[in-house]
Amino acid sequence: TFVVTEACIKCKYTDCVEVCPVDCFHEGPNFLVIDPEECIDCTLCEPECPVDAIFPEDDLPVGQEKFLEINAELSPKWPVITAMIDPPEDADEWAQVEDKIDLLDR
Ligand code: SF4
Ligand code: F3S
Repeated sequence: TFVVTEACIKCKYTDCVEVCPVDCFHEGPNFLVIDPEECIDCTLCEPECPVDAIFPEDDLPVGQEKFLEINAELSPKWPVITAMIDPPEDADEWAQVEDKIDLLDR
């Protein structure tokens, strides 16, 4: 499965959702997750993210491993999103911030 990682928090550009053939993105207040039960590893979403937040589970950057569990835990709780929406107004200000995990709204 593919995994949405920390860079997405408070950025949520949603370019990724448009290309997913199986609609496996779920939307939370300031983050998106991929449902690992639905992802077919097509790879299409990975290059779409402007902040490179999406990785295959077997190639997660160091420190991002916990997001595998976070995606699995939150995807059943959040609604599916299939169409792009406007990002938060301050998304660009958060794009380069690295330590954002404590800001993840569930
Ligand atoms: Fe959807 Fe493909 Fe990305 Fe999996 S890898 S979330 S199936 S676009
Ligand atoms: Fe998040 Fe990137 Fe998608 S910021 S919403 S994973 S395009």
